[in-house]
This record gives sequence, C-alpha cells and structure tokens, in this order.
Amino acid sequence: MRLDLASWLEVETYLEQNRTIILPVGSTEQHGPMGLIGTDALCAQTIARLAGERTGTLVAPTLALTPAPFNTAFPGTISVSAATFKTMVSEIISCLHGQGFERIYFFNGHGANLVPVGQAASEAEVSAGDRLEIRIRSWWDFEAVNKLRRDLYGDWEGMHATPSEVAITQATHRILPPGSATEPPRKLSADYIRAHAGDRHGPPDEHRRTFPDGRVGSHSALATPKHGKALIEAAVTGFAEDLNSWAR
Ligand code: NI
Repeated sequence: MRLDLASWLEVETYLEQNRTIILPVGSTEQHGPMGLIGTDALCAQTIARLAGERTGTLVAPTLALTPAPFNTAFPGTISVSAATFKTMVSEIISCLHGQGFERIYFFNGHGANLVPVGQAASEAEVSAGDRLEIRIRSWWDFEAVNKLRRDLYGDWEGMHATPSEVAITQATHRILPPGSATEPPRKLSADYIRAHAGDRHGPPDEHRRTFPDGRVGSHSALATPKHGKALIEAAVTGFAEDLNSWAR
C-alpha cells in the first residue's frame, strides 16, 4: 500500500494491525550517457513498492533529494549536504514515530545515503528506547541479487551507472540509446574501489575530469530490460523475506 495514495483514516486503521513502514531512499544525480538522473530513487522505489504489496506493508514517498556532491559538475544533479539530509531523516523518523510507527525500514539505492541515514537512525533509536526499531538495507545487499550482478556483469558492474541499476530502470521506465557508453569505461583498480566505497569521491570538477562521461568503472551498455526484470524479482524476494523476518 502506498502512503501517498492512502487516506489518513486508512493509515489509522493500518496502524491498528501493523506498525511498520518502508521508506525508499535514492538520489537525483547523473548516471552516465544512458542512465536516468533518477536511477537510484527509481530502483529503490520500484523494489520497495513491489515488496510492500507482497508483504502488505505501507510504503512512504521516496526521498530522492540526497547528498551527491561529487556529481554536481554534471547538469541535472541535485545534491543536498549530508547534514541537511540527516536532519530531514531525523525529523521524518520522529514524525512517524509520534504517530505510532515502531519499525521503519529505509530501503536504499544510493551509497552516500548510508552514513547520514545510519547516524539519524541510531540517534533516534537511542532516544526512543525499545519502542523504535530502524533497519537500513540497500537493494544490492541480498545474496541472490549479488550473485546475479556477478554472473551477468563480473567486474564491469563497476561503481556508478552500473549495468544492474540501468537494467532495472530499462525494465520499468525508459531505455536510452547507449551513445558513447557503447565503449567500455576505464577499468578501476582494486585500490580505487576500496578507497572510494560508499561514494567517497573527490570534488565535483575533479570527479568530472576523471570520469568525463559519468560512468565510474561501470559498463552500462551491458544492461538489458530482461536483466532488469530478473534483478527486480531477486531484490523483491530478498527484501520481502528480510522484512517478514524482521517485523515479526
Ligand atoms: Ni546509482
């Protein structure tokens, strides 16, 4: 059930049976020549809504304006600071908790969200005591999803504008011609991947100079809508199982 398509009376009735809500979090940032600006938000939202239907869990509107400072030299990227985002997440948690929600599941599609959401969540859990539990998972955390990413793309999954995220939006939203992404991107070293995990990238101008078409080690053009459907199914299954065992 979608929160934005429910009435307050329906939410009040829901709360008599179920104290869990899903909150998808993504980003609004460049995803290379053939990736949509909304990729991270659209991936998290698609999977969260399907898992919400499957488990009968309420799904809140997607938080799509989040920190992506390294991508602001690419037009269309909208970034807010990690501090602003953390404050917003804290206030959202406190608002939902005040209405009786006791389990909030942040379902993530963007690496740079993990630290601010994690900090806001631990602070809220400490101050609320045992009446509030918060869980944070990204759609690629589930083993079956990771196996698919490895099997389909190997090292070409890379770090940004990944073929797996492009495949998901191809299956659900829009297919763009690959253009310059037909050519494979520069291969990343193992050191680079370790040093920049969780979207720890450099300043915007340097980032655009280093990765001129926006792909970071990812061969986006390997994506197909068929892969996207399989990735969505694996992620929805993993998420629904995790949600059911957590919220019991
Ligand atoms: Ni992404």
